[in-house]
Amino acid sequence: MSRARSCSRWVRLRPSSPALEGVQEKLLSGAKVADIGCGLGASTILLAREYPNSAFAGSDYHDQSIDLARKRAEDAGVSGRATFEVATAAAFSGTGYDLAATFDCLHDMGDPLSAARHIRQALAPDGTWLIAEPNAGDTINDNLNPVGRIYYNASTLLCIPNAMSQAGGYTLGAQAGEAAIRQLITDAGFTRFRRAAETPFNLIYEVRP
Ligand SMILES: C[S@@+](CC[C@H](N)C(=O)[O-])C[C@H]1O[C@@H](n2cnc3c(N)ncnc32)[C@H](O)[C@@H]1O
Repeated sequence: MSRARSCSRWVRLRPSSPALEGVQEKLLSGAKVADIGCGLGASTILLAREYPNSAFAGSDYHDQSIDLARKRAEDAGVSGRATFEVATAAAFSGTGYDLAATFDCLHDMGDPLSAARHIRQALAPDGTWLIAEPNAGDTINDNLNPVGRIYYNASTLLCIPNAMSQAGGYTLGAQAGEAAIRQLITDAGFTRFRRAAETPFNLIYEVRP
């Protein structure tokens, strides 16, 4: 079992029972991956280190984050396979991606529907979109627990203002549960959606064109 070296020792990038259908095989043999809203590139770099046959394109609309991501990729020795660009999720470059990933950022976007539509056209026909979002229920009552309370507070102060500061006028809200995410990806034209995995803090969805 392989574990990430530059992050928590509990992160397992190669689980014995992968949650996403066929994705690990593609990553091992050589996949084209988009890491959208990648921030400082932590996930991009971890994946590039773990899957040396694959190429990773990180993007984020925040230019200073991308500057740091590039530097960190260089320091990690993966800058040849982990490249970065400043771009919104609705305009990142490239097509034919085997895997698109949005780690904890869909709910930060001011126009998640345009992002979802763009991701759909950027994916290969048999590609996969991995969505990692906070573990949230669909109703306020579902979220009245310690994790939900933390997320409501953080989201109210950070995520919602960030999303509302962007063009688009449609945000997923302080705690977007599975129903809200399913509606979004259905509106964007995807045909397959399932909850693939969960932790106390995160839900992982598998979305296919
Ligand atoms: C909570 S951070 C997650 C960063 C990274 N994915 C991670 O897991 O470390 C959310 C990220 O979404 C980015 N973001 C927000 N709105 C965006 C948009 N419309 N297009 C691209 N990136 C966006 C922010 O700049 C930020 O880096």
